[in-house]
Order: sequence, then structure tokens, then C-alpha cells
Amino acid sequence: MPKSKNQYLSDAWSNGLFDRKVVFCTGGSGTICSAQVRAMVHLGADACIVGRNVENAEQVAKDIATCRKGAKVLGIGNIDVRKIESLNAAVERCVKELGGLDFVIAGAAGNFLAPITQLSTNAFKSVIDIDVLGSYNTLKATIPHLIKSADAHRTDGVNTPVGGTGGRIIFISATIQYTGVPLQTHLGAAKSAVDSLSGSIALEMGPRGVTSNVICPGAIAGTEGLSRLAKAESSGSKDGLETIPLGRLGTVKEIADATVFLFSDAGSYVNGDRVIVDGGAWRMGQGI
Ligand code: HXC
Repeated sequence: MPKSKNQYLSDAWSNGLFDRKVVFCTGGSGTICSAQVRAMVHLGADACIVGRNVENAEQVAKDIATCRKGAKVLGIGNIDVRKIESLNAAVERCVKELGGLDFVIAGAAGNFLAPITQLSTNAFKSVIDIDVLGSYNTLKATIPHLIKSADAHRTDGVNTPVGGTGGRIIFISATIQYTGVPLQTHLGAAKSAVDSLSGSIALEMGPRGVTSNVICPGAIAGTEGLSRLAKAESSGSKDGLETIPLGRLGTVKEIADATVFLFSDAGSYVNGDRVIVDGGAWRMGQGI
């Protein structure tokens, strides 16, 4: 089996792992989500990424498609996860053009630093709407297709995967909700709800063969979130790294690897869980 040469992926995963599978991703133009999708496409999947900015979505899709000959990657812009109609239209186009939908990454998020004394009700609501309602809408728009995919991958009435995997959703969460972080009341509340949403879906949809998990990235190098919201990377100083037991920032590759694990046969018995990829920082009281 040829070894992976993808910088977003460990060599542990074999090419063709996700042949004939389709991944749908909200927030897919972002640094973390695009790396997750790139890894899946590299391993055989086709993909549909959606986002608010048309140019970004199309450009990132085009770029991801170059990682594997014959890959089909749709980039659909002008999608606001707060509006279910816009997501429904994107899902419909994904299924029509790519033939189905097996995996979902609910990655769209909005955030900013704001003291509670200056955080308006509308600002709080914006983040809740993007992260919580947006995650719910993503689930709602894709669940019939996830059920269909799960049905195709199990023996009658038994949740034993046959011939591959499908029917899985990953919500991108955070670690802020486990520790509390100043200036982030809105995001902490939102991510708690995202965790809870995933847990309930895992219980409700598990009997149908659909799995639901969250990935909680810590401080990941090169991300908009880190450069805008944290100082450690942009200043180039070591500030903040002492609260990460591994003493370094994470990489998007490490998030992509967790994604591939959860979507692969290797992750078939993981359901309702949170995969925290943060170097152990939240255990030091440092959520992000
Ligand atoms: C205070 C703010 C604000 C800010 C917006 N608002 N930015 N309040 N500080 N910096 C307020 C506005 O004044 C307004 O309230 C309300 O929020 C809605 O603003 P809109 O401009 O209408 O924006 P909207 O499109 O609804 O929301 C988008 C957004 C924006 C969430 C506000 O920040 C965004 O889309 N950011 C890009 C995505 C992003 O942040 N990605 C990084 C996520 S990473 P009023 O009262 O005036 O009407 C992440 C993980 C954590 O979250 C990483 C930690 C390092």
C-alpha cells in the first residue's frame, strides 16, 4: 500500500480508505476544517465544503481537489448555517452532484473577545446562533442522508459495519467550556451546547447506526482563532505554552488525524465521545 505524502496526515492511513465516500463540511474554508477535508479527500473521499464567502469556498475547494487526481470537491459559498433553507439547498446539491453524503463535519463557528460588560445581547446571540443553531441546522439538513449511509454499511438491524463506514457526524467544539475563559462567556455557553447536542444525537441515532462525536481542538498553530484570540503564536513568544503540558502548539494535521480516525473503521465503536486534541492543556485549566 503506498504511503501517504500528505502533510495533513500521518502515514498510518492507507490511500483509498474513503473511496466512493462523500464528506460534507460547514466552515470548510477555515484552516482546521479545510485540513480535515483535505485529509479525507487525500484518502479517496469526494467533498462538499460550504461557507459564507463565495470566493473563499470556491478557492479552497479547488485547492483541496488538487491533492488527489480525480477528486471532486464542491465549494459552495453564500451559505449561512443560521438559515436552514440555505443549508438544505447545499446538501441537495451535494447529494445530486456527488451521489450521496456519508460523513459530516459541523465546523462553522463565530467568535471574538468581549468583556461581559460590553457584550451586547445581540453579540451573544450571534455566537449562539452560529455555533448552536448552526450545528443543529447542519445536523437537521444532513441526518436523512447519514441514516441512509449508515443503513448501507451495516447488516440488517445490527450495527456491525460491513464494507466500510458511513453515517457519522463530527461537531467541532472547543475546551473553553470545561475550564471557563474570561471574555468568552458567549463561546463557552455555545460549545457546552454543541457538546450536549452531540451527546444526545449519539444516544438517539446510535440504534440507527449513526455515530456522533465532538473534536475539541486546543491551541492550533496557524489558525484564525489563535492569531485573533490568543497571543502566544502571533507574538512568537513562549507566553502561554507553559500551560500546555506538551509545551507546543498543535497542528492542523493532528486534528485531521483525529478526524480520519473517527470516520474510519478504527473509530467504528466511538460514539457520543469528545476527542480532545490540545496537548493536555485543559487539564491545566487552560481552555481555548
Ligand atoms: C464585541 C462584537 C464583536 C466584537 C461583533 N460584535 N464583533 N461585539 N466585540 N469583536 C457584535 C456586533 O456589534 C453585533 O452586536 C453582533 O455582534 C453581531 O454582529 P454582526 O456584524 O452582525 O456579525 P454576525 O455576522 O452576526 O456574526 C459574526 C461574528 C464574527 C461572530 C460576530 O466575529 C465572525 O463571523 N467571525 C469570523 C469567524 C470566526 O470568528 N472564526 C474563529 C472561530 S475560532 P450589536 O449589539 O452591535 O448589534 C473559535 C475557537 C476558539 O471560535 C479559538 C480560541 C483561540
